[in-house]
Amino acid sequence: MKENDEDVIELLQRQHREIRDLFVELETAEGDKRQELFHDLVRLLAIHETAEELVVHPEIRDLEPAARPVVEARLGEEHRAKELLTTLQKMGTEADGFDTLLVQLRDDVLAHAEHEEKEEFPLLRAHRPPERLRAMAATARVAEAVAPTRPHPGVESAKANLLLGPPAAIMDRARDLIRAAFRS
Ligand SMILES: [Fe+2]
Ligand SMILES: [Fe+2]
Repeated sequence: MKENDEDVIELLQRQHREIRDLFVELETAEGDKRQELFHDLVRLLAIHETAEELVVHPEIRDLEPAARPVVEARLGEEHRAKELLTTLQKMGTEADGFDTLLVQLRDDVLAHAEHEEKEEFPLLRAHRPPERLRAMAATARVAEAVAPTRPHPGVESAKANLLLGPPAAIMDRARDLIRAAFRS
């Protein structure tokens, strides 16, 4: 499937798989490779959760009263994951205790993604027509422009992480881009 044919649910589920794969790779990676993978994880989680926060959760919250507490629970999970991700980035991949916190983040993030796939996405698919879901994907994709993808070989990983900035800053920039797309 071409990326531009994806609807918003397919896009988010693909990102869930990419996030899961990054956690698996991080389990055994060491040194620079570990820093690069963590860079990719911070970027992808920031983009993904911001798109969900602005494009998907509000849409689901408006579907029916029963959807509201489901969405509130997801937003709370996203907030906790963002804090944990920020702590991890400050620690750096070589720090004592990084591995333990990373496992906690992985468990939280994967459980969160499963909740979304089971409780939210089916509601959205049932209530919104295909063309609306594809338009939502286009808006969600705007967030991808926010942060550099992994730098080419030769760029020091530590410098790359500085370029990337903290998760909250990436999310703020992604929010600005998505809001601008809403207005256009
Ligand atoms: Fe999420
Ligand atoms: Fe998600």
